[in-house]
Amino acid sequence: MSNDFIPAYPSIDDLRKKAIRRIPRFAFEYLDGGCNENINLHRNTADLREVQLLPHYLRDFNGASLKTELFGIEYDAPVGISPIGLQGLIWPNATEILAKAAMKHNIPFCLSTVATSDIETVGKITDGKAWFQLYHPTENDLTDDLLKRAHNAGVPVLVILCDVPTFGFRPNDIRNGLAMPPKMSIRNFIQIFGKPNWALRTLFNGQPEFANLTPYMPKGLDMQQLGKFMDQTFTGRLNAAKIERIRERWKGKIVLKGVANEADAAEAIRLGLDGIIVSNHGGRQLDAGEASIHPLQRIAKKYGDQIVVMQDSGLRTGPDIARSMASGAKFTWMGRSFMYGTAALGDKGGNHTIAMLKMQLQQVMEQLCCERVEDLPSHLISRE
Ligand SMILES: Cc1cc2nc3c(=O)[nH]c(=O)nc-3n(C[C@H](O)[C@H](O)[C@H](O)COP(=O)(O)O)c2cc1C
Repeated sequence: MSNDFIPAYPSIDDLRKKAIRRIPRFAFEYLDGGCNENINLHRNTADLREVQLLPHYLRDFNGASLKTELFGIEYDAPVGISPIGLQGLIWPNATEILAKAAMKHNIPFCLSTVATSDIETVGKITDGKAWFQLYHPTENDLTDDLLKRAHNAGVPVLVILCDVPTFGFRPNDIRNGLAMPPKMSIRNFIQIFGKPNWALRTLFNGQPEFANLTPYMPKGLDMQQLGKFMDQTFTGRLNAAKIERIRERWKGKIVLKGVANEADAAEAIRLGLDGIIVSNHGGRQLDAGEASIHPLQRIAKKYGDQIVVMQDSGLRTGPDIARSMASGAKFTWMGRSFMYGTAALGDKGGNHTIAMLKMQLQQVMEQLCCERVEDLPSHLISRE
């Protein structure tokens, strides 16, 4: 058993419950919620868990390895840490905690453009191994500068996002004043006073800010002005022309995140991208959308030999990673799970969560009699 694993919290649900007690309600709801009525959020996990796997008990078995190669890099497990905006609001220094844990366990960490630590800091922590997720600036100069900084920080893989053409409608965030422009209410301050550990750490580390963007922001913006700055600086909608421009400039690998149908997957291939993450932003954008396992199955079948197909949204366990890979994903990502771990256990949260997921996946592989994660599809029970 890994020294990083803390037996008091053997599931993501344990970490989620502990996180509720440790952080202010507005921060927890920002992390935990989906959009509208949270239908897509719950459907992601529920439909994924319809996938069933077949074990073999009498076959020869030489041990299971979780190692896998992605874009020429060997990782210790087929799961990465998805980009999360405003991580430091959920737990102070969460970005750094998770980047360090990813480095220690040799899995990829992806930094969001709107994370609370900058690309240079995370590049140093991860020895240039972190991935970077780009939101789409209105001005090409800003895109080019961010690309240059990512390149200088050693980023091997650029992730471009297509599933936020507009802000998701998130009732909790609207109620809590966290939609754009953000607004701190008396209610939020009362919630902060109820969580002294979070409050003291936030005081010590300073108010979370969009660290990647501070070089471009006028100093001393209030919340209203910040909202306006973000609105003017970024446009959500991605298109082929923008992708082509980025492809011409970025010499490393490019992954399109947020793919939800076969046509967009085909377009990614046509535009010369290297990978896609089939994702619906963890159910935060389109409540009427389908669970990400369904487009994953279709896309992997049709295009899995032409582009690297990965999945996120709804995965919470080692068996979920196995279900996704058996369904055709070459690699998986998780967002909330790592953040629940960090909010619950602070500095130890990233290491614990990764160690736990590795143990769970290892157990599934041994149970199935599956030696390599690439062989998981041969254990899929097909219902067609
Ligand atoms: C609080 C929160 C903030 C997020 N911020 C970003 C972001 O800045 N950029 C991005 O590409 N995805 C963002 N996502 C989506 C995640 O990268 C990922 O797709 C999603 O969390 C996966 O679903 P899961 O949480 O069920 O694992 C965010 C998700 C959450 C929960």
